[in-house]
Amino acid sequence: MRDNPTILMCPPDFYGIEYEINPWMSRSRASDDVEARRQWRALFDLLMDLGSVVRLMPPVQGLPDLVFTANAALIWNRVAYLARFRHAARQGETAHDEAWFRYNGFEPRHLPAGMDFEGAGDALFCGTTLFGGYLIRSDAPALQWLAAQIGCPAIPLQLVDDRYYHLDTCFCPVSPDAAIYYPPAFDDYGRRTLTAHVSTLIAVSDDEAARFACNAVVIGRHVVLNTGCPRLEADLGELGFTPHSTELGEFIKAGGSAKCLTLRLDGEDAAVWP
Ligand code: ARG
Repeated sequence: MRDNPTILMCPPDFYGIEYEINPWMSRSRASDDVEARRQWRALFDLLMDLGSVVRLMPPVQGLPDLVFTANAALIWNRVAYLARFRHAARQGETAHDEAWFRYNGFEPRHLPAGMDFEGAGDALFCGTTLFGGYLIRSDAPALQWLAAQIGCPAIPLQLVDDRYYHLDTCFCPVSPDAAIYYPPAFDDYGRRTLTAHVSTLIAVSDDEAARFACNAVVIGRHVVLNTGCPRLEADLGELGFTPHSTELGEFIKAGGSAKCLTLRLDGEDAAVWP
């Protein structure tokens, strides 16, 4: 485990289902404020118990998805490559993200205009390679641009199922050579590429994928995820990881779970940065 796992979160003070930009969101299925706060707090407490330092982004009225800090940026050392959100509903977040990163000692950088990119939601290191999800929210050229900036190999993966619209909903590196994934979220080429590049792949079932099994937070050998994923928990245990589940149903109503609610600021445990 890295020395001081540091995680950015944003309290759900202004969280809610105010628009519909993915198949999980329905304005007719509102989130429960009290329960959302309770679930968020339980995740926060669990991450602290596992030894992380949690930094907070101030919540902003009118930006209900700001809680999903994974989308704020891709972090590489002290550089924060800021999101360029596909949907107007989330574009107002970037100014707040940029201010937070600048104020907290990161160097915020924008991608070139015309390249949509949704931060760590769609770009995940596994070892030295940057895996990128594209088509639904991020553009493939954005991944190539980032890899050229960073000087790392990039593997673009087309996302083919609207329910798994960000890479972190269907792929989760747990160490530099192992990852969780949901095979039907990728095309044949993507599945073959993953098999060729990641030596240990744990596939999750349809029902556990829909419980956001792949949307897990890795802290050393600990893996934090939503409840309802017993098969994945057993598979992780066999690989020497300790799973911790915590109910996050109020956030699944917006299409997010544990991983989406966090952004590792010091580098994921699975990342080997050039
Ligand atoms: N409602 C948000 C959206 O559709 C959820 C974001 C989830 N974040 C993630 N990293 N997968 O953009």
